[in-house]
Amino acid sequence: MHIDHLNIAVDGGAATGKSTVSKIFAERLELTYVNSGLVYRFYTYYAIKHSLLNNLEKLVSEVEHLSISYENIVKTFEHEINHSSEKDKLIMEINNNVSPVASSAKVRTSVNKTLRHFMSTHKGIVMEGRDIGTVVMPDADFKFFLIVSDEEAARRRHKELIKINPHTKVTYEEILHNVKERNKMDSTRQVDPLKAAENANIISTDNKTVEQIVNEMIHIVRVNEI
Ligand code: CDP
Repeated sequence: MHIDHLNIAVDGGAATGKSTVSKIFAERLELTYVNSGLVYRFYTYYAIKHSLLNNLEKLVSEVEHLSISYENIVKTFEHEINHSSEKDKLIMEINNNVSPVASSAKVRTSVNKTLRHFMSTHKGIVMEGRDIGTVVMPDADFKFFLIVSDEEAARRRHKELIKINPHTKVTYEEILHNVKERNKMDSTRQVDPLKAAENANIISTDNKTVEQIVNEMIHIVRVNEI
């Protein structure tokens, strides 16, 4: 298989650095980067905006009615977040509601339809999420599962929020609580829980730079590429 046709799954808990690492990793291998978590975040944003957090069935039917592709979800979501007057607050509101939304089987089926449609029209994908190696791309050529301590994850996320708003009122403790809650909810939910696929390469990201993690992953691909 030529490297530009590889499909690669990158899974892991909250703020393991999946997005940063997966983007650079995809770029280096000239593959297309897909962020499945962003689609769950978009559904959650929509639910908050239209007061549908308690009616996920209606949420799914309304979002499906928009008939919106993965590419347009990314554009719309980023535009909405960037134009919000209190970006850090909105991000935390989404963080605090996304796991319950993502635990709905109806939401997952709907999100997976969007992801599979994107996969059917693109070759050579690095997709990051929680259930990519287990459910969305069980036949992925390579699977990675990133791990990090909750404290390091919260430190990273707090730094990111301070960059967005140096006067943010969101505290490290609040983020740590959110990271722990989300990981608990994501890994114990009934439908497609967060877990490493049997054949996943487990990568610990504590005390490593992004460059070191990406190099470690690229090394695994190069050594095992058929
Ligand atoms: O970036 P971070 O790791 O904090 O989260 P994310 O990847 O943006 O995912 C946000 C939330 O979406 C997760 O906490 C999960 O509840 C859900 N999610 C999921 O259930 N399945 C996926 N494949 C991706 C995300």
